[in-house]
Amino acid sequence: SPSVTEALSERDLLIVSNRQPYSHDREDGEITVSRPAGGLTAGIDPVMQRAEGTWIAWGDGDADFEVADDGRVEVPPDDPSYTLSRVDLSEAELEGYYFGYSNQALWPLCHGMVYPMRCDGRDFERYRSVNRRFADATVEEAGDGSLIWFQDYHFALAPRFVRRELPGALLAQFWHIPWPTADTFGACPQAEELLDGLLANDLLVFHVPEYVENFLDCVAEAVPGASVDREDRTVSHAGVETAVRAFPLGIDAERTAELANRPDVWPDLAERYGLEGQTVAVGVDRLDYTKGIPERIDAIERFLEENPEWRGEFTYVQNGSASRSEIEAYEYLQKRVDTAIERVNDRFGTDEWRPVVRVDEMLPEAELYALYRHGDLALVSALRDGMNLVAKEYVASQIDDDGVLLLSEFAGAHEELGEDAVTINPYDTRAFADAIERALSMPADERTDRMAAQRRRVSEYDLVAWMDDVLETALARENDRDLSVT
Ligand code: G6P
Repeated sequence: SPSVTEALSERDLLIVSNRQPYSHDREDGEITVSRPAGGLTAGIDPVMQRAEGTWIAWGDGDADFEVADDGRVEVPPDDPSYTLSRVDLSEAELEGYYFGYSNQALWPLCHGMVYPMRCDGRDFERYRSVNRRFADATVEEAGDGSLIWFQDYHFALAPRFVRRELPGALLAQFWHIPWPTADTFGACPQAEELLDGLLANDLLVFHVPEYVENFLDCVAEAVPGASVDREDRTVSHAGVETAVRAFPLGIDAERTAELANRPDVWPDLAERYGLEGQTVAVGVDRLDYTKGIPERIDAIERFLEENPEWRGEFTYVQNGSASRSEIEAYEYLQKRVDTAIERVNDRFGTDEWRPVVRVDEMLPEAELYALYRHGDLALVSALRDGMNLVAKEYVASQIDDDGVLLLSEFAGAHEELGEDAVTINPYDTRAFADAIERALSMPADERTDRMAAQRRRVSEYDLVAWMDDVLETALARENDRDLSVT
């Protein structure tokens, strides 16, 4: 909103995230600039352009070019308006901080999956020292009047390091993934230090109230001396009062609808993947064990088993690119997905028809949105998911209001869309298969009513509304603090 923009123009805004908004690659002496597909970096970018702030992120040293030795570069490339300051990490740092503690301890822990979790003490030391490096880089760019906004689970400790240097700065953090129950979190040997780091923020934001409640439970249990006010959802600890809030991340629904409305994209895409004349279900995920991909394919198998009339008529498109593949649990998942798809295609496929079509490359945006729009169903079957923006992207692409979203009750998005989506429990193969059948035979007017209601929600509480909520609440924390001091 204009008031947030104005308030921000009067102060330094710093973003700290692991992934960067722009990356530069050198190929045959040519520099190319690319942007990651993720919604959040794309969403914060325009705010940064207006606020002329500084973004601190992990950046590949090999790609540095006209960038000064300190890793700074002005972006966006064609109209520079803010500074991207890169922290270059060594192999050992990446190993311990990113592949190690972030993705083998915190990621499974926060998703409540203690089986692949590994809280290695040496990884944690790397995580701590990398958090300190990011904190140092932040302090170098910031002052006591800055608003510093940390992103995600890569930086649980950095706020405390920054707070020690800049006691007057305004610190906020958005935790993109779930927060688990206290008994799950209690399994982590570093629980107390992680909580202490996060409690250096003036504002800590999660997607949904359940994660806020879980977080407060964890603090009450694991941080001696912290005082938790359940009603106000604040914690006082080590000289800082932290407000803990739920604001569900939204998407740029208008832009999504525009992209989905490009008429020329679908025919080629349908031809390329053999989808002409088929009833199409789509699944789009990073290949991650939290997304419930093998469970989804099991349900499709059961559906085809029990509904032979759909054989030859129904195609499921699995689109997703590999991620974090050096980690054993991801390698194993990849194999499970391969095996499951092969099994279904061997069992039911014919010379003319493959029940599961796999699209491994990252589709260009226009193609992805065409796939969403023409997908009769979307299958979002996460075993646990902070939000799941794919559900929202699918909904925003249904400009004809004729698709059906099957949505896991374990995704944060279910809080907002669950009432009108078809709810599934991904572990319940039989019920999941029945839900696919029900969705396919849903009367057109019911489909339209349900989708229109979901589309309204997604466009009303969009990325801009979310950003306003977060930034307004962060700025208001400063007044609260002044009041409590005087
Ligand atoms: C999740 C996390 C993000 C992360 C993304 C991709 O959505 O919340 O912080 O950037 O996954 O994972 P990657 O490890 O490739 O950055």
